Amino acid sequence: MASRKSVFDLSKCARPNILALEPYRCARDDYKDDGTNILLDANENAIGPGLALNKDGKLTNNAPNGSGPAIDIDLLGLNRYPDPHQIDLKQALCNLRNTHAHTSKTLTPDHLFVGVGSDEAIDALLRAFCVPGKDKILVCPPTYGMYSVSAQVNDVALAKVPLQAPGFQLDIPAIKAALSKDASIKLAYFCSPGNPTGALLKKEDVKQILEHESWNGIVVLDEAYIDFAPNGASLAEWVTEWPNLVVMQTLSKAFGLAGIRLGAAFTDPAIARILNSLKAPYNISNPTSQLARAALDPKHLEVMYKNRDLIVQQRERMLKELPKIPGVGRFLGGKESNFLLYEMLDAPKGGKPSNETALAVYERLAEDKGVVVRFRGKEYGCLGCLRITVGSEKEVDRFLEEIKVVLENIHVKAGTINPKEEQRREKEASAVVA
Ligand SMILES: Cc1ncc(COP(=O)(O)O)c(C=O)c1O
Repeated sequence: MASRKSVFDLSKCARPNILALEPYRCARDDYKDDGTNILLDANENAIGPGLALNKDGKLTNNAPNGSGPAIDIDLLGLNRYPDPHQIDLKQALCNLRNTHAHTSKTLTPDHLFVGVGSDEAIDALLRAFCVPGKDKILVCPPTYGMYSVSAQVNDVALAKVPLQAPGFQLDIPAIKAALSKDASIKLAYFCSPGNPTGALLKKEDVKQILEHESWNGIVVLDEAYIDFAPNGASLAEWVTEWPNLVVMQTLSKAFGLAGIRLGAAFTDPAIARILNSLKAPYNISNPTSQLARAALDPKHLEVMYKNRDLIVQQRERMLKELPKIPGVGRFLGGKESNFLLYEMLDAPKGGKPSNETALAVYERLAEDKGVVVRFRGKEYGCLGCLRITVGSEKEVDRFLEEIKVVLENIHVKAGTINPKEEQRREKEASAVVA
């Protein structure tokens, strides 16, 4: 082919903040979901979808005991665009969260935005409220990585106020001071229960931010893991009381439906209207909508609650068994989620929390044993920590067995690691968002 003449220069054409992005990396790039690995890295529901399925995992009109309602995916209707408003789905989400534990007021579909996972809501809020290159969001590390990724995509800067140790609660005086002095902060993202902390935030603390005397911005409460917390913990219905509150939720975690990509943001109708106006019109596909509506039906909800209870049982078991393993350090954070944050120590007795050990445990577990967890040692306040998703009973059996062996071997070989190489591996293991 004759050489083509063109002045095109991608590096000067694309937005600089976008050019600086790294392609999304997830642990599944390295450790496949092909049935050979135990995946305790992404806080998914290890038991399965919260749907009444038959023994082969198929949708059927005859769910277990003939009890489940049919899930009737309308394949013949797939030539048509989906409903852009999703009122029935929104009403089902309201029915779930109208507990009247926090207010006598009632959520209605006009309090809702539904999106492609709660990741869409995180991004939509940034686009709606932050002027690129000018405004900021406030985050409280250690926290969910997508807030900062989405901020970078939108050319929005971060103000950081770390969570307080121990317990990973909000530092209210520091947050209030940051909001008082910087009017360019438009959104404050709080995660409750936190990722990777597993700790539920105090309602009273959230109230103090909502009542800030001068800050004109929005409190975003990410409740992705709320169904693993005690019943009544969700503050979703509080959006009927506060015009400056957004509560995000997802069907990816307790509902076990990460594959359908359905997230929701409960908020005041005025904010919901803005989010619904800026979204792509047909963001929720027909199959997703039908599966989500089914999952919120009482018969299927029963399965979700059963699966959730199984996970909570295994969570309690891990909390009891892990401290007995030599080299496992303190349990940090809270236990209101489907994962636990534990320190790894550099010696079986009297050891200190160590990133070197935690990284070696992470790598040996994944590469030699096929058990994939998350290295979180580079996160604020998480020195030497692994975040471990609670698995099924069999998975927890395997995990407890393997981590004991792996730690023993690492302690025997301690002191043989090259520091430069160690830094590179830590960076690589930290570059995963979930
Ligand atoms: C705190 C938090 N928020 C939101 C999400 C994203 O959830 P979704 O699958 O709904 O996009 C995750 C996923 O790991 C999360 O940990």
